[in-house]
Amino acid sequence: MNEETVKSALDGLPVPQVRWFDSISSTNDVALQWVSEGVQEGCLVMADAQTQGRGRFGRRWVTQPEDSLAFSIIMKPRAEEIPQLGLFSPLGALAICQALEADWRLKPLIKWPNDVLLSGRKAAGILVEVVWSGNDLQGLVIGIGLNIAPSSVPPDEQVLYPATCVEQAVGGAVDRMQALRSILAQLFRWRAQPLGEVFFAEWQKRLAFLGESVQIDWDAQQRDSEEPSVRGVFVGLDQTGNALIRLPSGEKRAVSVGDVHFRPV
Ligand code: BTN
Repeated sequence: MNEETVKSALDGLPVPQVRWFDSISSTNDVALQWVSEGVQEGCLVMADAQTQGRGRFGRRWVTQPEDSLAFSIIMKPRAEEIPQLGLFSPLGALAICQALEADWRLKPLIKWPNDVLLSGRKAAGILVEVVWSGNDLQGLVIGIGLNIAPSSVPPDEQVLYPATCVEQAVGGAVDRMQALRSILAQLFRWRAQPLGEVFFAEWQKRLAFLGESVQIDWDAQQRDSEEPSVRGVFVGLDQTGNALIRLPSGEKRAVSVGDVHFRPV
């Protein structure tokens, strides 16, 4: 894989520029810098390996050569989309799901808000980061890590949530460039329409643990109340993408997309 193979795989898609690296600290870091320099929507940063790949909550995300996809795609949300910035990470998850469904007939699910699961194990993670200049939104980066080959799967004891990869689910080889193209095509398809009812319906249709008991823990650094967690039955999404949890008291509680840990009980 190199810059030329990436560019030719993306032929016809609205990707104005590609920055390719055999190895880089983090594609999100390069993309965030690029955003602050001013860049168009759809520009892509991609690497075969990352030395300081990042996940949510400051966790490490390991990317070694030739066995996974690690890329960051730049979005330039319009002013009227600012209230919906929290939806860009589920948008990435939905695009991955739809690509895996269309090209490999898989049945991925989304662990709210945005982890992609195959057979109950995590295959992809998304880290969205936003660049502001004062009150002006400069742009946003959707960083996507997708495990393709078995060698990309970290051992269970090294991760909080057990992981898997696409080749394991397919039972054979998977072309990384095909996966990249397919994910980006789905993403651009969603960018051409408002994130409204259809988007929420497609997201909700793929939610893992619906109707099951779950626990949501607020990340220690983000917690703004004394309440560390909430437990109840996951009953779906509200119209803004919040998770609706039915508490043991019968009351329904909406938990907003953000720095929370969601897990089955
Ligand atoms: C998570 O599940 O915690 C999110 C993982 C996101 C990893 C991707 S790989 C490409 C991009 N660059 C990074 O440093 N992180 C994201």
